[in-house]
Amino acid sequence: MEIFSALSIKVLAVLALLAGTCSSKESFMILSMDGEWIAKETIVGYEFNATVPGGIYTDLMNANIIENVFFRYNDNSSRWVGYNNWTYSKIFTVDADLLNYIQVNLVFEGIDTIAQIILNDVFIANTSNMFLRYIIDVKDSLKVGTNNLTVFFESPVEVGKKLNDGQLKDYKIPLECPNEAYRGECHINMLRKMQASFSWDWGPAFPSVGLWKPVYLESYNESLIRYVVTDVIDKDDDTWSLNVDTYFANNTKQAVKGQLNVAIDTDTSKVTEIYVVDVKIDSNNEIVHSAFIDIPKNQVKQWWPNGYGSQSLYQLQVDFLAEADGTAHSKSQKIGFRSVELVQDDLEKGATFYFKINGVPIFAKGSNEIPINVLPEVGQDKDTIRYLLQSAKDVHMNMLRVWGGGVYESDNFYEVADELGIMIWQDFMFACSLYPVKQDYLNSVTAEVNHNVKRIYSHPSIVIYAGNNENEGVLADNWYDTKGNYDLYKKDYVTLYIDTIKAEFDRVTKNRSIYVSSSPSNGKESESEGWVAEQPGSSLYGDVHYYNYVKDAWSSTSYPVPRFCSEFGYQSLPFEFSWLTATNNSADLSINGEFMDYRQHHPLGNAEMEVLIVENLNLPSNSSNYDSGFIYLSQVLYAQAIRVESEHYRRYRSYLNEDGEGYTMGALYWQLNDVWVAPTWSSIDYTGRWKMLHYFAKDMFSPVIVTGHLDWGRQLNLYTVNDQLNPVEDVTVILRIYKYDSPDFKPMYENRTNMTLNAAGSQLIQTISVDNFLVDQNCGEALNASLNCFFYFIIEKQSNTGTSVAVSPENYFFPEKLKQSTLASPTVNITSIKAKDTNTYEITVTTNNIAYFVWLDSQSIKGRFSENGFLLVEVTRTIWFYSAQNTTASELEAVLTVTHLKDPRWA
Ligand SMILES: *[C@@H]1O[C@H](CO)[C@@H](O)[C@H](O)[C@H]1NC(C)=O
Ligand SMILES: *[C@@H]1O[C@H](CO)[C@@H](O)[C@H](O)[C@H]1NC(C)=O
Ligand SMILES: *[C@@H]1O[C@H](CO)[C@@H](O)[C@H](O)[C@H]1NC(C)=O
Ligand SMILES: *[C@@H]1O[C@H](CO)[C@@H](O)[C@H](O)[C@H]1NC(C)=O
Ligand SMILES: *[C@@H]1O[C@H](CO)[C@@H](O)[C@H](O)[C@H]1NC(C)=O
Ligand SMILES: *[C@@H]1O[C@H](CO)[C@@H](O)[C@H](O)[C@H]1NC(C)=O
Ligand SMILES: *[C@@H]1O[C@H](CO)[C@@H](O)[C@H](O)[C@H]1NC(C)=O
Ligand SMILES: *[C@@H]1O[C@H](CO)[C@@H](O)[C@H](O)[C@H]1NC(C)=O
Repeated sequence: MEIFSALSIKVLAVLALLAGTCSSKESFMILSMDGEWIAKETIVGYEFNATVPGGIYTDLMNANIIENVFFRYNDNSSRWVGYNNWTYSKIFTVDADLLNYIQVNLVFEGIDTIAQIILNDVFIANTSNMFLRYIIDVKDSLKVGTNNLTVFFESPVEVGKKLNDGQLKDYKIPLECPNEAYRGECHINMLRKMQASFSWDWGPAFPSVGLWKPVYLESYNESLIRYVVTDVIDKDDDTWSLNVDTYFANNTKQAVKGQLNVAIDTDTSKVTEIYVVDVKIDSNNEIVHSAFIDIPKNQVKQWWPNGYGSQSLYQLQVDFLAEADGTAHSKSQKIGFRSVELVQDDLEKGATFYFKINGVPIFAKGSNEIPINVLPEVGQDKDTIRYLLQSAKDVHMNMLRVWGGGVYESDNFYEVADELGIMIWQDFMFACSLYPVKQDYLNSVTAEVNHNVKRIYSHPSIVIYAGNNENEGVLADNWYDTKGNYDLYKKDYVTLYIDTIKAEFDRVTKNRSIYVSSSPSNGKESESEGWVAEQPGSSLYGDVHYYNYVKDAWSSTSYPVPRFCSEFGYQSLPFEFSWLTATNNSADLSINGEFMDYRQHHPLGNAEMEVLIVENLNLPSNSSNYDSGFIYLSQVLYAQAIRVESEHYRRYRSYLNEDGEGYTMGALYWQLNDVWVAPTWSSIDYTGRWKMLHYFAKDMFSPVIVTGHLDWGRQLNLYTVNDQLNPVEDVTVILRIYKYDSPDFKPMYENRTNMTLNAAGSQLIQTISVDNFLVDQNCGEALNASLNCFFYFIIEKQSNTGTSVAVSPENYFFPEKLKQSTLASPTVNITSIKAKDTNTYEITVTTNNIAYFVWLDSQSIKGRFSENGFLLVEVTRTIWFYSAQNTTASELEAVLTVTHLKDPRWA
């Protein structure tokens, strides 16, 4: 590395040359191959117009050869698509200018998956990894004039089977076929393809093929910038050291000469560094220039996760000027300044597991993201990405995990996460299976790690990478009966996730980033046990995934006390209007009917939902509204369950129990989004509608909460949690006791406790012996007082003007099962709807008794309510509706419905 002062005369000459010729000289050329292609199939003889970037299902739908694949059983009736081979061709013209460059490459940003590429009838490459970018030298196969580029896709189902058959000569690599309930295809683990594209327990099988990302020709003489990989290093109290690694495209000289300008706009100045570049291809087959730039800390603001500060981003611009011909190539991206630490300090038992960002411990609140769409090309959609990430931010999430059965998401996804302060836990794309370790497979994985890490690593939002989803558990807990050959499979596990993925990751990131071998894992304990811990689900180390569909979902005693819970959840059914985008047959809405069963991919899922509902609530008693009632109850059940579970994890942030468990620092529920309308764990359904859980998430992830937990001795432990970095002084914690049946809405009891909420922690503020206490408040006799009354909590603060403002969401605690409690049967009405403008409506909800889980539904009018699924402990409440489309108060009135737990239609 040299700096500007050492600049040679030659480079200055190049600069002079550039200044004079910029306008006339083409510096390099990019010829897009996107747009119209022709797709073909030989068995039936289909031939139709296709679009690149795209995919076979989208193209077949656009050509009206298949119907909307997300409708009714169409995933099944279009399954033949995945068994066929498909050919995509494009005829295009090339002029002499493009071919005059020394280097001419054909670049595929993403090919799904097994394909042969033929240019002018000459085979030029095979592809086998959807996550790679393929760059093919076509200087000798292109010609001036008309060219024919053809991509022949082989059925991924067929190839998966072939590879598995070949593999069987050595030994089995389960999981060969998914559970029957998934209605999926076999052998996805043989392919470097989105693992969920052959089905999952929340999604259909679409064994896609296609060019899912842009295709183009690029030509240059010296080189192009392939990647700019940046990393911020916390150098000292006053300085960030910004490492900028510029990776250059290969050329015939296998060396690059020129000038590199690296510029960054800080808050106070433009820092520009100029380097003379003279780099040769290195032993890793990379041409890379590495620079370190000191940025005074007082010139930039830190990047913070949502809820902790601003998401300051700074434009980094890298320009390369080739010495040979003065051509220029640039790349720019936004970077953020932040430090990340995964803290695994020893405790008396086990070790902590939490993130520090900029030195501050952060309780990770959020969810798990499954692919934006099961059709990879549709998963690039920017509006959907922004909508989902904004929805995460709006409910106080600060972290999302990009789950290992999907795809490395688009650049846009990570850019939006940077902008919104959503930390990303990034899995590598391996999930719930064992995988091959043949050399060609490992080479492909190494290239995949190399490309994707270089592509996404500069994003400040990404804070951790994990080798896979649940595969440590697959081995340790013997999911697929591999115990008999454990040593062999364990060796393969280490070969893949440590010797291959971790090795390449550490090399590219210079050992500076955080990699855990699996999600979940025991963190450093897994490592010390040779990367497969005896108990990967231990609550004393690392993170856990926790699911239980048998225990009472509304009792915090049902939940473990882990250091970090990175998956937990329950299923629910989408609301009717969402279902009606997937069917036009009202019989399909029957819970016990064929269609609901067809869309339920989780074995016994509907039965589990019923068991969980019945534990706490009554099933609809009115058979004519049974299905709508069941849908509503499934959402009440899971929303409240996940609220109880999330608040349970949050209250343990400052406490250890007698078993040494606790100091919990993360709650990421499963799952944020959906890939079709179906019973799943999602909080936002496929139509974008917030399910009840997403509204609950806004409360349970609120920076300040008050939450009650009943222990085995029927003591109610009342906690406050404050995630903010400052104490909240002079607040009043209000505890009220209400009778379930309270036509006058008067609490039986109210207590106000003035206190200060500690910074960044949870506090046990009161322990109440529930049954005696409720007897004392005239709720009834010892045997039934807990059936007649419930607890209500809120934290308020006196404002300057003397009014009370809530600093926490409302919360409540039901001391006994609601199905046994003496709930009133109120009438809940919408009594007025007033338009503030075409997108904002003020809705008044009125009741004549306390109402539970009050749910407003705007049916066909897309939008979001200020709150929903709420408890109504007063006669009226004002709710805001923010419509996503222009509407009017009378249009809204025509469709808006309200329901609640004791809705006479089913209660
Ligand atoms: C395909 O595209 C071409 C060119 O735009 C058009 O002329 C042709 O009608 C299209 N074919 C079909 C089947 O839509
Ligand atoms: C698909 O292509 C492969 C490789 O050429 C061939 O073996 C197979 O028979 C083809 N399958 C179909 C359904 O055409
Ligand atoms: C383009 O090449 C492919 C494969 O060689 C061939 O099948 C196809 O007919 C060609 N298209 C045209 C228009 O020549
Ligand atoms: C660059 O060239 C070397 C040597 O020919 C090759 O091994 C390597 O794969 C090439 N890298 C890329 C990104 O094409
Ligand atoms: C009521 O509030 C007071 C402080 O205002 C507190 O000392 C007491 O423990 C509270 N009692 C109960 C049962 O909530
Ligand atoms: C609690 O705080 C409120 C509001 O600041 C104040 O009006 C009230 O007197 C305080 N109560 C006690 C017992 O200090
Ligand atoms: C709700 O509406 C019904 C029908 O209009 C009316 O009879 C009832 O009094 C209303 N109840 C409340 C609480 O507003
Ligand atoms: C909504 O109405 C506004 C103002 O009338 C108009 O500019 C806008 O295009 C409309 N939006 C939609 C989605 O129709």
